[in-house]
Amino acid sequence: MSDSGISPDLVTCALSACSHSGLVDEGVELFYRMTKDFGLTPVREHFSCVVDMLARAGRLEDAFDFINQMPLEPDKHVWGALHSSCHEHQNVSVGKLAAEKLISLEPHEAGHYVTLSNMDSSWKMG
Ligand SMILES: *[C@@H]1O[C@H](CO)[C@@H](O)[C@H](O)[C@H]1NC(C)=O
Repeated sequence: MSDSGISPDLVTCALSACSHSGLVDEGVELFYRMTKDFGLTPVREHFSCVVDMLARAGRLEDAFDFINQMPLEPDKHVWGALHSSCHEHQNVSVGKLAAEKLISLEPHEAGHYVTLSNMDSSWKMG
């Protein structure tokens, strides 16, 4: 809990609400304000909310840049959020990148390889 009385969990909820209602710019602003105005340090969960928010809105490049600027090592939730939005937006090139990152994080997870090999055949626009 910060001096402002805003808890990190509350920010997570607010970010997730922004993500689901397409309020991307508001969500991104909230993310930056949590540090600047509320004195909170973002944790992994907050980063993955922002990635999810940008990617859902089709801002895949912004999402990718955001991941690359993260001070924390992006985990499978972050890459997974990007990957599922790439599927939704039929973007094989960014989707492949995300799948390769998932594979490097979890080389023993067979599902990632299947995902990667299915991408070209099943992601084509109808
Ligand atoms: C996929 O997303 C990237 C980054 O936004 C963009 O440069 C590229 O043109 C997109 N590709 C397709 C097939 O939409």
